[in-house]
Amino acid sequence: MKEVAEIEKRRTFGIISHPDAGKTTLTEKLLLFGGAIQTAGAVKNNKIKKTATSDFMEIEKQRGISVATSVMAFDYKNKKVNILDTPGHKDFAEDTYRTLTAVDSVILVIDCANGVESQTEKLMEVCRMRDTPVIVFINKMDRYGKDPFDLLDEIEEKLSIKVRPLAWPIGMGDEFKGVYNIYENTLSIFQANKTKIGEELLKLENVNDPQLDEIVGEKFAQELRDELELISGVYDDFDRETYLSGEVAPVFFGSAVNNFGVKELLDAFVEISPAPRGRKTDIGFVEPNDSKFSGFVFKIHANLDPNHRDRIAFLRIVSGKFERNTFYKHIRLGKKLKFPNPTSFMANDKSVIDEAFPGDVIGLYDTGNFKIGDSLSAGKDLNFVGIPSFSPEIFQELRNDDPMKSKQLDKGIRQLMDEGVAQLFIQEPGSRKIVGTVGQLQFDVILYRLTHEYGAKCSFTPLGYHKACWITSDNQQQLDEFLRAKTGNIAKDKDGNLVFLAETVFLLQMAERDYPDITFHKTSEFKVGK
Ligand code: G4P
Repeated sequence: MKEVAEIEKRRTFGIISHPDAGKTTLTEKLLLFGGAIQTAGAVKNNKIKKTATSDFMEIEKQRGISVATSVMAFDYKNKKVNILDTPGHKDFAEDTYRTLTAVDSVILVIDCANGVESQTEKLMEVCRMRDTPVIVFINKMDRYGKDPFDLLDEIEEKLSIKVRPLAWPIGMGDEFKGVYNIYENTLSIFQANKTKIGEELLKLENVNDPQLDEIVGEKFAQELRDELELISGVYDDFDRETYLSGEVAPVFFGSAVNNFGVKELLDAFVEISPAPRGRKTDIGFVEPNDSKFSGFVFKIHANLDPNHRDRIAFLRIVSGKFERNTFYKHIRLGKKLKFPNPTSFMANDKSVIDEAFPGDVIGLYDTGNFKIGDSLSAGKDLNFVGIPSFSPEIFQELRNDDPMKSKQLDKGIRQLMDEGVAQLFIQEPGSRKIVGTVGQLQFDVILYRLTHEYGAKCSFTPLGYHKACWITSDNQQQLDEFLRAKTGNIAKDKDGNLVFLAETVFLLQMAERDYPDITFHKTSEFKVGK
């Protein structure tokens, strides 16, 4: 059946890393090897430069670029590879978290000198929440970095995932000789080369092949033999099932900027990574080969031109076949919608498509019907679950500076929240509007857009909260007591869920200790699973 074959072909994944580890470079190189672009430099670097924090238009320009490169698709070895781009800047981390709900696996890039960094830890927590399979690519081996064994230990420790090297580096920095593929017994010989793609590959009998000594020298050849022995003693053999269940991450080494180790990574990726997976809904699990179309919106991008208010909703197809101009039910609104111009994205190029299959991400032009997390279905009424909001970490009160413009402000803030730019909490009692974000940049974005797109007049005042936690309890009495004791620190989110605004880590811990029957949730995901 055509549909089954189409599903089996797709590989939808995201690349994650701490900023500067080489995510953009690796993405570009994968596109080069995949034939989607012809020259290096074609994919604009969409990361928001640290220096541009106050230059709002610069941010927007860069956000604009990131729309074009939001999904990059190419064909490779009979597979249709979809790379979902994730913003590199930490202030847009929530975008990244949500994009991870739409992928079936990830490639994690680690800088060999810096090891596991803070952003990597957070992103991996999100991957672990849904057991997303992970492949690790240790980058920048052309520089001196940490010892590879130490790096593997660090990954296991800090990211709570087991690792299994599938390749092993020979030397590093100026003495980087290449990478030995443990299962194929091939040697990729390193040459610093930023423009040419392709690497010199030598098939060896096994690691004792004397050719190895000739090429990398006796010292390095012996070191490699010793290290491989250690590896086979310490790590279990690679087992695809443990990778697919998110327990073990296979590890590769290379240098993205030098096109080195990238083809090897891509070849292994298309071989072992999962085909599109199903997703949980409030009425049960939906499999990709269920015949009726279904999908969910995980990202909304606004058109910033005030003359064109339309937005693009990014929809991940979970089951069945999506067809252009066909009515599908928007479950939350309970109404049928059809889409005359659904688009697919090919690196820097958008085109209208007639059909799409599970694993694909399409763009739907939207005039305000969609919120992040919305589900579309051709069959049963179902809501996909597990598209979480995360506890914000920076809070500011939104003040209306012109009572005549209240309507504009309300509409604007509601729409921005639907797009997932930030989270709005309304303080109880009272009606103070508290905006929570994970990064400072969002406040610039919100203020600019409320003023320019919606004509509101407003300002922000910083608030000293540490974290917002959703609270639930089966013990109504204790909950009531808590609400009474913490008046002033209680708010409701956009769906009316109770939220505790804790001023410090200590006060949050105290609350957890004093009110043991109350659960303090760090993500809003608990709501939907019920
Ligand atoms: P990011 O998206 O994860 O933030 O990282 P990005 O690819 O932009 O890479 C960050 C920097 O690391 C870039 O240098 C890039 O050229 C460099 N880089 C990537 N891969 C390698 C590698 O294998 N070896 C070495 N030595 N460097 C690598 P930059 O100076 O910040 O930018 P650029 O001017 O080179 O573009």
